[in-house]
Amino acid sequence: MQIKFIQLQTHGDERGALIALEESRNIPFEIKRVYYLFKTKTGVRRGFHSHKTLKQVVIAVRGSCHFLLDDGNERIDIHLDNPAQGLLIDSFVWREIYDFSEDCVLMVLADKHYDEADYIRSYDDFIHSVRTR
Ligand code: TYD
Repeated sequence: MQIKFIQLQTHGDERGALIALEESRNIPFEIKRVYYLFKTKTGVRRGFHSHKTLKQVVIAVRGSCHFLLDDGNERIDIHLDNPAQGLLIDSFVWREIYDFSEDCVLMVLADKHYDEADYIRSYDDFIHSVRTR
C-alpha cells in the first residue's frame, strides 16, 4: 500500500508557527468538511470503517495517535505526531485509530459532507468490497 504524506509548510518566526491548509493546493481536493477528535479517553480505539468514495487528510495538530491502515492486502501502522504532516487516506482503506495521547487533537479534512451511506463498517464487507471491485 502506498502511504501518502503531505508535508505542510510551516511559517515560523519568533512569535511561533502557522500552517495554512488550502483546497486544491496543499490539500489535494475540495474541502467540504472539517472535524476533529479530542478528549479521547485513554485506551480507546475508534474508526473501524472504510469509505466507498470519501477522501480524507488527517493531521495530529496536537499530541499524537496511531493509525492502522489496511487496503485489504496489507496493514500498515502509522504514528502521527507532527502538525506539519498530513496523511492522505483514500477510499477503500480500512482505518483504526488508537494510542491517542491525552492532549491529542486529530483534525480531519474531507472531500464530502457526512454521509452514513458512504461508510463500510463491517470488516468482512470491506474485504468483500475490495476483492470484488
Ligand atoms: P463515528 O463515525 O462513530 O466516529 P469513528 O467511526 O470515526 O470513530 O462518529 C461519531 C458520531 O459523530 C456519530 O454519531 C456520527 C457523528 N458524525 C457526524 O455527525 N459528522 C461527521 O462528520 C462525523 C465524522 C461523525
